[in-house]
Amino acid sequence: MVRHVIAPAKDLPAGNRIRVMIDGKPVLVLNIKGELFALSDTCPHRGASLSGGILTGHVVSETPGEYKYSRAGEILRCPWHAWEFDVRTGRSWCDPKRMRLMQLDVKIEPGASLVEGPYKTETFPVRIEDDYIVIETT
Ligand code: FES
Repeated sequence: MVRHVIAPAKDLPAGNRIRVMIDGKPVLVLNIKGELFALSDTCPHRGASLSGGILTGHVVSETPGEYKYSRAGEILRCPWHAWEFDVRTGRSWCDPKRMRLMQLDVKIEPGASLVEGPYKTETFPVRIEDDYIVIETT
């Protein structure tokens, strides 16, 4: 299993989301009430990005005229044609047996447990001067 470091946890507070690329595929990472979820950012219907979709809840009705709303904020609605996906399972609510999103495990780990990779990018000295961030290049 390959581990991918996405961002410092403080950069994704509850109620926020971030879109990242993992192995060339877009992945949507959501922080819902402090719980993290990572899903494919490609809708299996027609390929829309789910990043712009709203989070809603689960509505069930056992009797006409009576509705029960639960799991607020755990159902992701595609912005194109409104298919809905459960963030816990990736399953679609329009055809849950056949349609589902790729789902990835996501967790927070202490920085000390991360392993330095073999690649290194160019870095530049940076400092604050009179309230401005200044980067120096040669
Ligand atoms: S592309 Fe998502 S519902 Fe159609």
